[in-house]
Amino acid sequence: MALERIQKILAKAGIASRREAERMVIEGRVSVNGKIVEILGFKADPSKDHIKVDGRKLTHFEQKIILLLNKPRGYLSTVKDPKGRPAVLGLLKNVKWRIYPVGRLDFDAEGLLLLTNDGDLAHFLSHPRFSIPKTYLVKVAGVPEEKKLTRLKRGVMLEDGKAKAVSCSLIRQREKNSWVRVVVTEGRNHLVKRMFSAIGHSVLKLKRIEYGPIQLGDLPFGQFRYLTSEEMEKLRKLEATKG
Ligand code: URA
Repeated sequence: MALERIQKILAKAGIASRREAERMVIEGRVSVNGKIVEILGFKADPSKDHIKVDGRKLTHFEQKIILLLNKPRGYLSTVKDPKGRPAVLGLLKNVKWRIYPVGRLDFDAEGLLLLTNDGDLAHFLSHPRFSIPKTYLVKVAGVPEEKKLTRLKRGVMLEDGKAKAVSCSLIRQREKNSWVRVVVTEGRNHLVKRMFSAIGHSVLKLKRIEYGPIQLGDLPFGQFRYLTSEEMEKLRKLEATKG
């Protein structure tokens, strides 16, 4: 096997996403042949070198898995919370792999959350460069007029730049609130909430129902399932065309 950058080796081995792996290196948690790695560009050969993370030997050929959780509200989509709030990993009983969420869903958001130990796939699915569409059902205060939804499609200015919906449509309307189906391709923090706030409608509920070709379906709250081989195939094909 050839020499590869240390963060890429860690991502491939399913230890963490590439970005997280970089942080692990910077924090001095990674060693190669007994020496702490000090630079991100450091290259190693996983078939020959002894690589350790937090003193634990890297197991190279770990099976890559990806699963889908229907995240309930009131859970953090992180591995652990320093403040002790419930984290999604607590819902994944009997999962023996070290997996982590692909992107984030807010504490009070619900729905489709993918988790994997495949760092490259996580990178592909969450990096804005690959523009993977994510579909949300959004309950908002009031009923947005058509011209406001058009503004979302044209793009609204947020404090960290312009944000645009790929599509956006009113699907249910009540006296005081309504439901909108919206598709975005980015994963910036609180993006959907901030987009609706920019058109004057606060978000009351937020549920993700699709991530690229993967659909939540009727999986109950708090339950998870492994992706089917057809779904895996769809992701691999997408990666091959866009990656
Ligand atoms: N947009 C948000 O505002 N929150 C999420 O959790 C996801 C998208």
